[in-house]
Amino acid sequence: MAPPPHQRALLLLPLVSLLLLLSPPRADAWGKEGHIMVCKIAEVAPDPTPGYSEYLSEKAAAAVQALLPESASGELSAVCPWADQEGMCVVGAINNYTDQLYDYGQKTSYNLTESLMFLAHFVGDVHQPLHVGYEEDEGGNTITVHWYRRKTNLHHVWDVSIIDTAIKDFYNKSMDTMVEALKMNLTGGWSDDITQWENCENKRATCANDYAIESIHYSCNYAYKDVEQDITLGDDYFFTRYPVVEKRLAQAGIRLALILNRIFDGDKAHDLPLQVQ
Ligand SMILES: *[C@@H]1O[C@H](CO)[C@@H](O)[C@H](O)[C@H]1NC(C)=O
Ligand SMILES: *[C@@H]1O[C@H](CO)[C@@H](O)[C@H](O)[C@H]1NC(C)=O
Ligand SMILES: *[C@@H]1O[C@H](CO)[C@@H](O)[C@H](O)[C@H]1NC(C)=O
Ligand SMILES: *[C@@H]1O[C@H](CO)[C@@H](O)[C@H](O)[C@H]1NC(C)=O
Repeated sequence: MAPPPHQRALLLLPLVSLLLLLSPPRADAWGKEGHIMVCKIAEVAPDPTPGYSEYLSEKAAAAVQALLPESASGELSAVCPWADQEGMCVVGAINNYTDQLYDYGQKTSYNLTESLMFLAHFVGDVHQPLHVGYEEDEGGNTITVHWYRRKTNLHHVWDVSIIDTAIKDFYNKSMDTMVEALKMNLTGGWSDDITQWENCENKRATCANDYAIESIHYSCNYAYKDVEQDITLGDDYFFTRYPVVEKRLAQAGIRLALILNRIFDGDKAHDLPLQVQ
C-alpha cells in the first residue's frame, strides 16, 4: 500500500534537497574565472610590470593585505569567487559591506575579512548584466539555449561560456593572458573612459545602484536581444557580446579598486563618501 501523502512527501525530501544542491545557484553571477579576473584587475600586482597602471592605492593595498585570510597568500583574487549567497540584493549588499569596512582600524563587531570578501564578490556580480535580468526567467536561467553545440542556459552563457570561449579562442587558453589584455586595454583603448567609469551622478554611499542600472541596459540590448527558447547561439552572438563581457569585467575591477581606495585612504575616507565628483 502506498504511504499516505504526507509520508510520501517526507520520502521525497532527500531527493528534493539533492536536486537543489545540483541546480546552479540562482543569484550567482560570473563563474569562478570572471570573479578572479575582476579582482586581478583591481588588485595591485605583486610584481607590477612597468607600464601597467595599478589601481589600488598603497594604503588600500596594505589594508587588503591585512584583512586577507592566510589561505589567500596575499592575493585578493583568491577569495573573490567566494560567497555565493542567494537571494541577496546585490546593491544593498555592496553598500552594506562597504559601510562595515569603514570600521577598519577601529573596534568593530564585524568580521572585516568577510566584509572584504563579500564586497569584492558583489562588485563583480553587479556588473554581470543578467544578474539584474528579469526575475520571471531568473536572469536567463530558465532560457534554454545551445552555446554552439552544447546545451545550457542564457545565464550560464553570460557567467561562464562567453568568457571560456574568449579565453580559448583569443587568449591562448590562459585566463592570465586575458587579464593582461584587459589591463593593457585599460591603459590604451579604454583609458579615456576610465574617468567616466569612476564617475557617478548618484550621491549615495556607493554607485552600486548605477552599476545595476547599466547592467539592465546591457541585459536588454545585448544579453536578451534576439534570444528565444532553444535558440542556438554561435559566432554572431559571441562576436557581438564578448566585448561587453570584457568591458564589464574591466569596469568591475576598476570600480572595486576605487571603492577600496575610498574606504581605506585614510582621512579622506570619512568626510568623503564614496561618490566621485
Ligand atoms: C549586511 O551584513 C550583515 C552582516 O555581515 C548580513 O548579515 C546581512 O545579510 C547584510 N545585508 C545585506 C543586505 O547584504
Ligand atoms: C573571519 O572570517 C574569516 C573568513 O571566513 C575566518 O577565517 C576568520 O576565522 C574569521 N575571524 C574571526 C575573528 O571570526
Ligand atoms: C600559448 O601557450 C603555450 C603554453 O600553454 C605556450 O607554449 C605558447 O608559447 C603560447 N603561445 C602564445 C602565442 O603566447
Ligand atoms: C579594448 O578597447 C577597445 C575600445 O573600447 C575595444 O574596441 C576592444 O574590444 C578592447 N579590447 C579588449 C581586449 O577588451
